[in-house]
Amino acid sequence: MVKKNACVFISGTGSNLKSIIHSSRDPNFPVRINLVLCNNKKALGVNHAKKFGIPFRIINGRMNKFEQLALKELAERKIKLVCLAGFMRILSRNFLRRFNGKIINIHPSLLPKYKGLNTHKRVLKSKDRFTGCTVHYVNEKLDNGRIILKKRVEIKSQEIETILKKRVQIEEHKAYSMAIRKIYNTS
Ligand code: GRF
Repeated sequence: MVKKNACVFISGTGSNLKSIIHSSRDPNFPVRINLVLCNNKKALGVNHAKKFGIPFRIINGRMNKFEQLALKELAERKIKLVCLAGFMRILSRNFLRRFNGKIINIHPSLLPKYKGLNTHKRVLKSKDRFTGCTVHYVNEKLDNGRIILKKRVEIKSQEIETILKKRVQIEEHKAYSMAIRKIYNTS
């Protein structure tokens, strides 16, 4: 299989990055991660890139500087897919247009429910029986692009936010790679 080049954007822990890197080591996985971009110099997630010898760049400062350098790097490395994984900034309309239809994200809820931040807190205040995660294309509206895949998690009685977050993340780590396989019809 000829793998496509992919880049992961992160801002924090990078547990989703780690799971995608692990999947990408399978020869039948459709993408190879050849770049990690991070906008936060304190992000622990870059250690996963270091450990696996994946080139990474930490680009601090304003978003237009990040985007300018990102576009240069993405072009140089012929990146065909950008995976946002805990990337805590909003990409500009211009950037999204330049990479139209090639940017995906993971969100810790069953979209279209609970877009935005503090998802688990809001879920726990609701009477919902299920939550989960969603991998979706990124468009100009927050957490609003076409859905690729969702995974469901049952909310237990007396559930607390930290535990729910962990249980949802276990599903996120499966969902992201499944979604990438689905995009390239290799699931
Ligand atoms: C994940 O829960 C993801 O759903 C959200 O940000 C978190 C990132 O976690 N978008 P990590 O950095 O991948 O560990």
